[in-house]
Amino acid sequence: MKVLVLGGPNLNRLGTRQPAVYGSQTHSDLEKLCVETGKRLDLEVDVRQTNHEGELLEWLHEAADEHTPVVLNAAAWTHTSVAVGDACAQLRAPLIEVHISNVYQRESFRHHSYVSAHAVGVIAGLGFAGYTAALEFLGAQLATGDA
Ligand code: DQA
Repeated sequence: MKVLVLGGPNLNRLGTRQPAVYGSQTHSDLEKLCVETGKRLDLEVDVRQTNHEGELLEWLHEAADEHTPVVLNAAAWTHTSVAVGDACAQLRAPLIEVHISNVYQRESFRHHSYVSAHAVGVIAGLGFAGYTAALEFLGAQLATGDA
């Protein structure tokens, strides 16, 4: 079963971007972790990142049309984009929202999410382990036919 792991703006900068907040591992490390976790769980994990909002919208439309489960870190668009929220509303397979940092310990503008209302669950503050937790959840759901 295919799963899309989608990332929004600035996540390509992981490793150099605010390491005290986001850690020292890179987006390529994250991609490897997700793909390896997927292999263990019998999931075909496709990891994508973009700094262009329209591209993320098109990937979400693809997931909606193909009934593909999504793990989404929309990064700053989480807090700003009605369009990303509207695209998430179209998804038919489970959506898990992930944030590397604990957004609730940070500025109040990070406390609101346009994604959460459409997600089965939200993971924030666990670093890259949030992605593996999300994939574990989807793997279990898909194995029992609940997704
Ligand atoms: C983030 C948190 C967002 O507030 C921020 O804009 C990001 C990354 C996270 O993974 O912790 O770019 O989504």
